[in-house]
Amino acid sequence: MQQSGPAITRRVVSVAEGRAASRRWWDHDADSYQEEHGAFLGDVDLVWCPEGLREAEAGLLGAVGGTRVLELGCGAAAGSRWLDGQGARVTALDLSAGMLRQARLAAERSGVRVPLVQADALALPFGAGVFDTVHSAFGAVPFVADSAALMREVFRVLRPGGAWVFAVTHPLRWVFLDDAGEGGLVAVHSYFDRRPYVEEDVAGVPTYIEAHRTVGDRIRDLTAAGFVLRDMVEPEWPPGHEETWGQWSPLRGRLIPGTAIFVAERPAT
Ligand SMILES: C[S@@+](CC[C@H](N)C(=O)[O-])C[C@H]1O[C@@H](n2cnc3c(N)ncnc32)[C@H](O)[C@@H]1O
Repeated sequence: MQQSGPAITRRVVSVAEGRAASRRWWDHDADSYQEEHGAFLGDVDLVWCPEGLREAEAGLLGAVGGTRVLELGCGAAAGSRWLDGQGARVTALDLSAGMLRQARLAAERSGVRVPLVQADALALPFGAGVFDTVHSAFGAVPFVADSAALMREVFRVLRPGGAWVFAVTHPLRWVFLDDAGEGGLVAVHSYFDRRPYVEEDVAGVPTYIEAHRTVGDRIRDLTAAGFVLRDMVEPEWPPGHEETWGQWSPLRGRLIPGTAIFVAERPAT
């Protein structure tokens, strides 16, 4: 019998639809995500992207000792545990109870426990200006249709002078099929089509959403919220790195950027 997969469409989704879809998706996917990527990510390490760039070498967050650091979409929270080891006072936040269960398991394995919070990145349960740094490695940002609202929410919880550093799929990847092989080298989608990618169940309820912003959109979302953009890092595929992660592969990585890391700052005054 032929199995039918989810219906795939491109359409606008409401905040409530997006939140419900992401929460269900990541709860359901948590164990297999960790099984597939846990060894690559480690239990105590901040790996920014499938290219394998580590905070230990990149230093995008600067010196964090004694500072208050929030991780958005932390998954198993390996990054927060690593920053804890650097002396930061960390909080790791995720929408998904399944992912936070993985974070607790990793805490038991590693013996490094950090505060975990279940919440939506669009409605952070913190007061204004309480963090020195907010960071995210593919957490929350790609899965939120209203990216501008997320930037405003991060701006709110950062103190003046605080840093916001987040990694997302490089916007250029949006034009290609989600294919690690040759098929993923052919441009098929419009870079300018901002409608989110949506998978739906038979009732038309979104089960997975991923939102696209162009490079210019990302910059405008940041600056409209009040941020100053300091850098946009495009990690290169390192020689000898042969591991494939979903649509990230050595074949594609040598030709086109796969990740964009935005380094922004809330102005001091
Ligand atoms: C691709 S995983 C990345 C996890 C982790 N940062 C890593 O590097 O492995 C995306 C994470 O973002 C979380 N997430 C998605 N939407 C979110 C939202 N609106 N608020 C908070 N977390 C969210 C998911 O639950 C999931 O843990």
